[in-house]
Amino acid sequence: MEIALKRSILIPSNELYSPVAGFYDYGPVGKALKRKLEEYWRDFFLRKDGYFEIETVYVLPEVVLKASGHLSCFGDPVVGCTKCGKKFRADHLLEEKGKRCEGAKPEELNNKIKENNIRCPECGGPLGEVGWFNLMFKTNIGPIEGTTGYIRPETAQGIFLDFQRVFRSHGSKLPMGIAQIGKSFRNEISPRQGLVRLREFSQMELEYFFNPNSPTHPKFKRVEKEKFRIYSREEQKKGTDNCIELTAREAVERKIVPNEIMAYFMGREMQFYLKLGIPYDALRFRHMLPEETPHYSGGNIDLEVKTSVGWVEVIGNAYRTDYDLKSHSKSSGKDLSVSLEDGGKVMPHVVEPSFGVDRTILCMLEHCYRKGGDAERRDWEWFDFPAFLSPFEAAVLPLMKKDGLAEKATELADSLREKGFDVLYDETGSIGKRYARQDEIGTPYCITIDYDTLKEGTVTIRFRNDGKQTREKIDKLEEKLHSFIKGNVLCLP
Ligand code: GLY
Repeated sequence: MEIALKRSILIPSNELYSPVAGFYDYGPVGKALKRKLEEYWRDFFLRKDGYFEIETVYVLPEVVLKASGHLSCFGDPVVGCTKCGKKFRADHLLEEKGKRCEGAKPEELNNKIKENNIRCPECGGPLGEVGWFNLMFKTNIGPIEGTTGYIRPETAQGIFLDFQRVFRSHGSKLPMGIAQIGKSFRNEISPRQGLVRLREFSQMELEYFFNPNSPTHPKFKRVEKEKFRIYSREEQKKGTDNCIELTAREAVERKIVPNEIMAYFMGREMQFYLKLGIPYDALRFRHMLPEETPHYSGGNIDLEVKTSVGWVEVIGNAYRTDYDLKSHSKSSGKDLSVSLEDGGKVMPHVVEPSFGVDRTILCMLEHCYRKGGDAERRDWEWFDFPAFLSPFEAAVLPLMKKDGLAEKATELADSLREKGFDVLYDETGSIGKRYARQDEIGTPYCITIDYDTLKEGTVTIRFRNDGKQTREKIDKLEEKLHSFIKGNVLCLP
């Protein structure tokens, strides 16, 4: 977080006034990384499998969230200090003292807080009674009191509301995947740990609608041998950190995963996170305990990443069954079941992989962070992002500003931009400092314009990870850069 803030990868929102916890802006480097991550997800999870992407609204009328269960179930236990008035997550206060309390009800938390004599972490004052706090932001739709709306707490609800129209206009056949990338909002009681718990955050959610009588995935065979580590409910209860390693097929056969569909997504998720630069040993699937499982889910298996603040959930894989479509059918009076080719009817079931974008970025920042390294005399901190996800793919640097070098470099930067590369131009300071600045934001290739460029039409390309250089003809640069990016070539080949 320190480096991300120093380089304006992230910027605390409303910093000119008093930043409010749980909100961050993305600066140019952070936004470019986020855009590339979302684009890669789109390609990897949607385009390759032929799933659809839609965009739905942020503001939902109360009736929707009543039907979805969020109005009654989507909250956290809260406790206030009777002296300073600050509010805290009651379960977090207990967990910080090493007391386990997953899924405990407010009365139980109340008792535990009293038994353990837990006091206000800010002023040491006595705590009041534990209550329940709904996490949704409430608003009025229009100027009339009583037309209550909420800012969506997940992108998924929009997909359920639009399911029938999308289904009918796009082939009317199960299975069908419908996704959404966008913001969601949760009025967290006491957000901490930077990007881990935000009040406004981005999700990439995929709802996979299928016939519950055939819970299979047509591409399962392609990932059945993919290995992953599972942190079972038994090990969690014992309080150990042990994981078992299984293939996607073994996880289905042992009934740890509810069906082939979820196992397919888990296999793909492993492939995806490894590509982002997260090492295998820093990834595990945690089978959520029944008391933590969300109200709509028949079983959750989260992908977690090991970070300096502990294991962080980056994906919630939920078997939502027909919970949402059934609830909306009942509440709206409109039948959301679908006709099958054999003439029957079925209420589709849903498996939902739900990705946290900001948390994934945090994990990338942590796992791609490097200090020092091979580059000659390098003593700075830098990011080893995969080339295809690096916020900027190349920087064009004139060795000097004079003698027409700056003009030539500007011309080259413009021409690379025209060809679709994300390019920075920098002419300020010594060439060594400029290389360091590019390393610091993870730019994989620095292209330097020097006197030989003017004479021979060649440039040097410096590789981020070893600092070594090669000389190439300008007219071969486009092809070379494409092949280095595609092959993730980060050192001199
Ligand atoms: N759609 C699942 C979640 O937002 O947690």
